[in-house]
Amino acid sequence: MKPVKVGLLGLGTVGTGVVRIVEGNQEDLSSQVGSPIIIEKIAVKNTEKDRVIPIDRAKLTENPWDVIRHPDIDVIVEVMGGIDQTKEYILEALERGKHIVTANKDLMALHGSEILAKAQEKQCDVFYEASVAGGIPIIRTLIEGFSSDRITRIMGIVNGTTNYILTKMSQEGASYEEVLAEAQALGYAETDPTSDVEGLDAARKMAILGTLGFRTNVELKDVTVKGISSVTREDITYAKRLGYELKLLGIADRIDDEITISVQPTMVRKNHPIASVNGVFNAVYVHGEAVGETMFYGAGAGELPTATSVVADIVAVTKNLKLGVNGLKAIVPYKQKRLQSDEQ
Ligand code: HSE
Repeated sequence: MKPVKVGLLGLGTVGTGVVRIVEGNQEDLSSQVGSPIIIEKIAVKNTEKDRVIPIDRAKLTENPWDVIRHPDIDVIVEVMGGIDQTKEYILEALERGKHIVTANKDLMALHGSEILAKAQEKQCDVFYEASVAGGIPIIRTLIEGFSSDRITRIMGIVNGTTNYILTKMSQEGASYEEVLAEAQALGYAETDPTSDVEGLDAARKMAILGTLGFRTNVELKDVTVKGISSVTREDITYAKRLGYELKLLGIADRIDDEITISVQPTMVRKNHPIASVNGVFNAVYVHGEAVGETMFYGAGAGELPTATSVVADIVAVTKNLKLGVNGLKAIVPYKQKRLQSDEQ
């Protein structure tokens, strides 16, 4: 039983969760895949920094190339974030025949097709379940679970930070600034929270969900975006009086051959299940022509929920390695749909 060796890029909130789950569930994980999963090397910003979990210092490096070029590593797990430099790391890792697990929605929304094409060329897996809705396995669900159906609508709360802010403003009358600071302290917000509060994070996630759900290429420019930074306590109070909750909602619709995708603060009638999704929780509603209505709910951010999806992807890669196959990377559009933005 040769161990499967993992190289970790990043040891922040999600990276720490990955180490906790791989080490804490080692026995169960090994029995599922038939060999131990070992975290062999970890790239961090500062090897001297104190960590919240015990880490063998010999495994740490400040040079990500040490991880990418490590000859024994089979799987690169990217939880460091960033776009251009990170893309370079991932493409080089694929060039070297390493499989990729990433939580990076920015990278996948912007460069997913290039990365997946390279993966296909090198016959490697690229899995990115944690990139959308943290602990909810929505990517697998769209690719595999609904492969038999024609999805017509994907609607969701896919940003935990803004949902946390809107919930606290609604339930406690708290101010926008106070709650944003709290969300940052809890590790939900992005390093630069502008992308959360201005809706860009949600837009990137909706571009990924639209691409997978509608089996086409949705680009970020195709998503109409408006964030929550101008939402006031008064807006929320009035919405409530009228029987609505205010939510930052991503809505992707397909009508005939036309797709529209938007992210914006939306009044949701209180009796709709989406209205009661509170705090850092996410929910994704999917409507398919055959299946009808479905809804998926769970933590959208945070250490262990997000790490659950990352480690599930490591397990999936490992199972494929054992079987000598690749899978779940076949996200190459089969047909180009007409997008509303094409007409603008
Ligand atoms: N900042 C993101 C959120 C993290 O709040 O949802 C998870 O993608």
